[in-house]
Formats: sequence, C-alpha cells, structure tokens
Amino acid sequence: MHASSRTVTTNQSGPHDDLIRRVERALAHPLRKPLAAHTRDAFAQADAWLGRRGAPLILDAGCGVGVSTRRLAERFPEHAVIGVDRSADRLARDHGPLPANALLVRADLVDFWRLALAADWRPQRHYLLYPNPYPKAAHLKMRWHGHPVFPALLALGGRLELRSNWRLYVEEFALAVERATGEQAELAPHLPDPCLTPFEQKYHASGQSLWRLVAALPHSPSLVPQPDAGAADG
Ligand SMILES: C[S@@+](CC[C@H](N)C(=O)[O-])C[C@H]1O[C@@H](n2cnc3c(N)ncnc32)[C@H](O)[C@@H]1O
Repeated sequence: MHASSRTVTTNQSGPHDDLIRRVERALAHPLRKPLAAHTRDAFAQADAWLGRRGAPLILDAGCGVGVSTRRLAERFPEHAVIGVDRSADRLARDHGPLPANALLVRADLVDFWRLALAADWRPQRHYLLYPNPYPKAAHLKMRWHGHPVFPALLALGGRLELRSNWRLYVEEFALAVERATGEQAELAPHLPDPCLTPFEQKYHASGQSLWRLVAALPHSPSLVPQPDAGAADG
C-alpha cells in the first residue's frame, strides 16, 4: 500500500530549551484543573468494568478509532485492555466487534490518568501510540512530556511504550522520563510488523521512519505533587 503522509516539520533544532524546566514545574506544582463530570462518569464505568474482569490492565492512551485496543486485546487475551480517547467521532467508527476483554472509553486523559492513579490502577502495559506531536516550539506544553499531567502518567507505572513518527518527540520524552524518574528509557527505530494503529499504517506506508521508546516504570504516586498552602498552578 502506498500513502503520502507529510513528515513532521518543526522550528526546533533539538530538544526544547524549556523542557527540563517544564518537567520540574510539573513535579513541583499540583495540576489544579478540575476533573470534568463526564470523565468522572466514564472513569467510574471503566473502573467497574475492570473490577468485573479481574484481570491485569493494559491502557491504550489516545487510542483513536480503537484498532490498537482491539489488536492488543487479541494479543493479550488474559489482560483487560482499555482504550481511551476524547474524540467521540473516532471512537464511534466501525472497526468491527470489540473483543470481550476490551473496552473503549471517551474521556480526557488529563483527567482520566489522575482518576486512575487515585483509584490505584496499576497498568502492566501503557501505550501512547502516535500522540499529537504539536511540533511548533510554542506548543511544548501540549506535548505529554511538557504537560502538567506528565507526573501522573508516569506514576501509574508499568511498561510504558511511546511510538511516534517524530524522533524529537521521543527524544524529549526520554529526557523527561529520566528527569522525573531517574529511569533511562530505551529509544530505538521501530519497524512495524504488523502495524498496530491506523496512524502507524499511514506513516509506514508513506516511507516515514518510526520511533519507539520503552520504559519500565515503578508504580510511584509520590511523583505527583500534592496541593499545599501557597503552591502555584502548574
Ligand atoms: C494522532 S491520533 C493517534 C490515534 C491512534 N493512537 C493511532 O495511532 O491511530 C492522537 C489521538 O489522541 C487523542 N487525544 C489527544 N489528546 C487527548 C486527550 N487529552 N484525551 C484523550 N484523547 C486525546 C486524539 O483524539 C486522537 O485520537
């Protein structure tokens, strides 16, 4: 299959100058954004489903249309696989029946990750497959490693896997993981066999290089700063 997907272009020549400061800020100042009611409801349903399954968890964060959620559920039949995306439109697309051990949830990850940590979820595997790159330097804070929710994402622990068609995103993510946890994440070229997601399929068919990071993280809720008197917003 041939496709023509544009490569990421950026005005950065290397990791963002402000990256480490952003990570340190996220580690020091609590994220005060209130939790949206719809994500609380969606989380409660997912939590009940997970409790009924009684199986180890795999999170597919930013699952898009849920193809990867389906494939992971087939690859790991003894696990419960939860795909989360904020786009109702993407989640509604018909990609065939969901395996019994898979669940798709419409929710904002900024809230969902914090709720998951508060509920003591401990994903064995946690996938971030082709997150939106936000390649303009001014948009660092929208990349997951530049966002104030980053400590909560890491604190869940487990085997965290990030894939991207933008090497710099993965490099920055590795630097941020190391700053926050002291863990050295492994970064390598990724040759899909077979492709796990539609975005992976599209980039691969366009001949783009793909990158992958894997980090083995301990469950560490203490990474997330707690509100206390006088703390500034993140
Ligand atoms: C580039 S797409 C990749 C989708 C899929 N993982 C794939 O590889 O085909 C990024 C996805 O992240 C989702 N997303 C971005 N920010 C999100 C957030 N705060 N909460 C939940 N989903 C989010 C978008 O809706 C979109 O579906």
